[in-house]
Formats: sequence, C-alpha cells, structure tokens
Amino acid sequence: MCGIIGYVQATGEQASATAAASDGGLTQATGEIIHEGLRNLEYRGYDSVGVALVGDVSGLTVSKQSGEVDGLDIPAIGDATHGIGHTRWSTHGPPTDSNAHPHTDCGGDVAVVHNGIIENYEELKQELSAHEFTSDTDTEVIPHLIEEELAADPDADLLAAVRRVETRLEGSYAICAVREDDDRIIVARRGSPLVLGHGDHTAFVASDVTAFLEHTREVTYLEDGDVAALEAGDVSVYHDGDVVDRGSETVTWEADAAEKGGYEHYMRKEIHEQPEALRQTLAGRLDVDAGNVDLDVSFPPGFLADLEEIRIVACGTSYYAGRYAAQLFEELAGVRASVEIASEYEFGAGRTPDRTLVVAVTQSGETADTLGAIRRAKDAGARTFAVTNTLGSTVTREVDGTAFIRAGPEIGVAATKTFASQVATLAMLAVAVGRDRGALAASDARSVLEDLQGLPGAVQQVLDEEPQVREAAQAYQDSEAFFFVGRALGVPVALEGALKLKEISYDHAEGFAAGELKHGPLALVTPDTPVLAVLTDRSRGRETMNNVTEAQTRGAPALGCVSEDTEYDTLDVSFDVPDVGTVEPLVANVYLQLFAYHVANEKGRSIDKPRNLAKSVTVE
Ligand code: F6R
Repeated sequence: MCGIIGYVQATGEQASATAAASDGGLTQATGEIIHEGLRNLEYRGYDSVGVALVGDVSGLTVSKQSGEVDGLDIPAIGDATHGIGHTRWSTHGPPTDSNAHPHTDCGGDVAVVHNGIIENYEELKQELSAHEFTSDTDTEVIPHLIEEELAADPDADLLAAVRRVETRLEGSYAICAVREDDDRIIVARRGSPLVLGHGDHTAFVASDVTAFLEHTREVTYLEDGDVAALEAGDVSVYHDGDVVDRGSETVTWEADAAEKGGYEHYMRKEIHEQPEALRQTLAGRLDVDAGNVDLDVSFPPGFLADLEEIRIVACGTSYYAGRYAAQLFEELAGVRASVEIASEYEFGAGRTPDRTLVVAVTQSGETADTLGAIRRAKDAGARTFAVTNTLGSTVTREVDGTAFIRAGPEIGVAATKTFASQVATLAMLAVAVGRDRGALAASDARSVLEDLQGLPGAVQQVLDEEPQVREAAQAYQDSEAFFFVGRALGVPVALEGALKLKEISYDHAEGFAAGELKHGPLALVTPDTPVLAVLTDRSRGRETMNNVTEAQTRGAPALGCVSEDTEYDTLDVSFDVPDVGTVEPLVANVYLQLFAYHVANEKGRSIDKPRNLAKSVTVE
C-alpha cells in the first residue's frame, strides 16, 4: 500500500482569477501542494518519498529518496504547472533512493508513480531487455513500456500510450504518469483506489481524498479499468476507449475521519482492509494450475529435502500466526514444526542446527524478543528466515531469507490485517516447502491454493455481517469474563480472539484448547462468562461443540463461528463462516476481531492506542 497524488495548477488568466478569488491557498507552488498532500498520505506508507514536477521551461524534474516525507527537498521550480508524488510502503525492493518513486524511462521525459503490484513485471522486464533499469521495483516497467509505445507511434500522446500499456499490465494498480512537453497528468486504476478532486481551475488525483481535502471537497471516484486525463480545470475519464461520466460528490468528512477512510478508528479500518491486504499478499504468487507458489525465496540446494525441523519464533499475535502455521507445515510440508514464544526460545539439545530452519514471524521486524531469538538460533548455527511486513527492518538484515506479507502499514496497536496476511504467507510457504520436498502432491497443493484464492472474498462476506456482530457485542459487553475455545487450527484463533478482546476492551478474556476446559477452566464458567467457539469443519467443530455444551450446562451463553453448511441449534449466537478449507478458521477470526472491536467501542476505550501497549516493542 502506497500513497500517490497528482496536481495540476490553474494556468494563465485562470490562475490570476483564482488567486484574486482565493485568500492565497491556490497560489501555493505546485511542489508545495504535492508535498503537503504526501504528508496527508503518509499513513499509507512512509519508507520512501518522491515527486516529479513539470514546467513549461524547466521540463521534467524528479526528486526522490528513502526516508520520510518531511525529509524530501522539493525542487524550487517556479514554473511547475503540474506534478505527481508518492510515499512508499515497499513491496518489491528495499527502501532505497533508487527504488523510491517516481520512476522514469530511459530518456528521462516520462515519470510514473504507482500503488499496487504488477504481477507480470518480470516477464515485461525481459521483453524490455534493451532498456536500462535502475531499480528493483515492479513499477519501473511502466515508464519503459510508455516509452516504447511513444517510440512505436509518433502520433501517440501520453494518454494513448498509457491506455495501451494498461492493457499489458496484470495485477492491481493505480498509476499517475507525466511527460515533458505535455500539460496533463494521465492516470489509470485497476484494483487500487484512485479519486479525482475538482478544484477551481485546478485538478487533483490521489489514493485517498485526505491528500487534497484542504483544497477541494468535490470528488469523483474512478472505477476499475478507468483511465483519466487531468488538465487545469478539466478532467476526462475513459473506459474501454469511450468517454464516461462518473459524476461527482461532495465529501463531508473532516480530515481526521477521512484519513481513517471514514471509520472512527484505524483498527476498524484495518479490519475492513483485510480483503485488499490479502489480495496484495497473494498477488502474483500462486500458480494454481501447477499447484505451485512463487514467494521469491531460495534455499541452498538440498536444504529443504534434508530439513528435520522448522521452529517458529514470535510474540503476541505473530506467535498465534506461528501456531496456525506450525500445523500447516506438518500437514502440508511433512516436516516437524513447533512454535515458541521468542523470549523463551533457546536452540535446545538434541537438534541438528544445519537441518533446522528457524522462522521469525514479526509484523514490525523490530521486536527485540524476536530478534534475540533469531540471534540465538544463528549462534547455534541454524538457518534463519523471516516473515515480516516491513522491508528494510532489522530482522530482514539479520536472517538468511525473507518473505514479505505485503499487508501495508498497520497503525492500530492491535494487529488485525497483518495476522491474516502472516497466516496467508506462511500457508504459501508451507505449500512451497511441501512441493520442494515432494511431500505434497500437486492436486493437494492446488486445493490449498484454491482455498487461499477464495480467502479475500470469504473475509468480505464476514465483514458484511458486521451488524450481527455489533448486536452480539452489545448484548454481552458487560459480562464478567469471556472464554474462547477451539481445536486444531481453531486453537490459535481462539487464543488470538482472547488477546484481541483483552488488549482493547481491558476485559478478562482467555483462550483455551476446547478439550482443556474440563481440566480446570470449567471452574470459572458461570452464566456471566460467554464462551466464543471456533466451530468450523476444518477445526473439529463437532468435537469442540461437545465442550461448548459442557460450558452451556453450567449456564454459560455460547457464541459460535460455524461453517455455513452446518447448524448447532443450541448456540445463542451463530456466525456463518464461508467454506475455504484450510483457511476457514482464519476467516472465523474476522468475527472475533469485530466482536473485540465492538465490545471495546461500546465501552469507549482508546482502541487504536490501548493503555500500556506500544505498536513496536523494541525492549526485551
Ligand atoms: C497484539 C499485537 C502484539 C504483536 C507483538 C509482536 O495485537 O499486535 O501482540 O503481535 O508485539 O509484534 P511483531 O509482530 O511486530 O513482532
């Protein structure tokens, strides 16, 4: 997830009229307005930043670097009439100056910023072998393809070139392109958000209205497949070659709410971003027909075949993602797998370091406990690997290999979308390892990959049921304590459900393996302690239901996340979980996230910044 913006200044007489009519806001330099927009978009990514400005005399000037938006020196170009800007959350290539956007063609007169993932960039790059590439990004193919189109047809302008290039790209993207000697910004959207802003003889485009809300509230949301041309005070939108009218609307949110996409809290916004985050996690990585996965990671020859054990080290929510994954590694990769709380991890006796893979699961890549565990594993001589959201983070510099979860920045302290993307990435890794070891047949792999493909849609189905979850949260919010239970893949989900509820609502919540209820926790069960159960078919729902009944017999209300083709009549509340096989319990988790959110919201808790907690825990 990155933030993009484009701005076209009023020109000539329009500019004088606008300046006279305004109190100075729109007489600001183009570069300044873009810089300000990037500051507003920083929540979408903040590891690199850049702008491209176009002036009648000065031509095209690009300035970009790794680091935060405020660190960028905007070129002092007095005649800049329009320009584009980008704030990056890396997915391909680390956050370096050369990987920062905008990217340019060989001639240096076309510049492009992009949000999303171009899945077929490697193929396109091969086709462009005569071109010199200066970055590791997927984006850089776009200006080079535009350059090719312009060279092939002398009558083609930037709009025609972008329209042709757009048909060659696979994946998700929002693109803004500028060209020297062209007074327009050309934009295209497929799968990544893009909104136009209509100013007084000015025009804006951005990933999100927050970018330009100070300047205009009149907006048009582009649809997938749209291409638009922005010039001073005029915007044309095309779809399948025809001009279309997408209408416009007035934004009534205040800037703070707009930054949260109209949601009251980042946490709720991030829960709702899960389908998009998961699409990015999976983009370009699944070859369903062949039953293969391309995570762009490599191991020394023979290492996976000889592998004796995978040990996952992680903390908190990432630890629960690891617990989910350990089961998948055993099932799909045919290898012994265990997960340990990073602060408790020691290499341990009786193991063979050079046949052990230690996998750190960490959203931030900076958690001190997890880094400590990785260092102990390395000292023992084990091979190390990281699954993280953060390119360039400390863990990526210390391990032998990394897979990125590509969930985009997560601002709420409580991890939500990153848990889903961690599990999806680890599931892909389990398939990749299983296939490499010959432990997983292509047909079985295919079925898991189909489950993963169905994941974003299944999560969306659950999100659509939010009113039902809110109602349940309102009904049970004043309970004395909450117990979460599950079996198999439902155990990590139950533990994660309890963690989410306790950290943001401050209520007592505990997760158990359902079979353990009768070995002690049942003593705590009363009519005032609801039990929330993961009752999906793939997590031994029927057996779990027997344990839920034991709690119900002691008067506890029972709420269950149940596979959509199953019914348990005695449940007080039943939430339908779409059937996506191996990842069904992960979908059930979305109900538990929403339940935690609504209980905490009813109580007016500080949801995005719960007391005593920090997003990144850099002390042991
Ligand atoms: C809970 C939560 C924490 C983190 C933990 C590890 O919602 O977010 O439990 O999961 O602090 O953080 P990372 O994944 O950054 O290593």
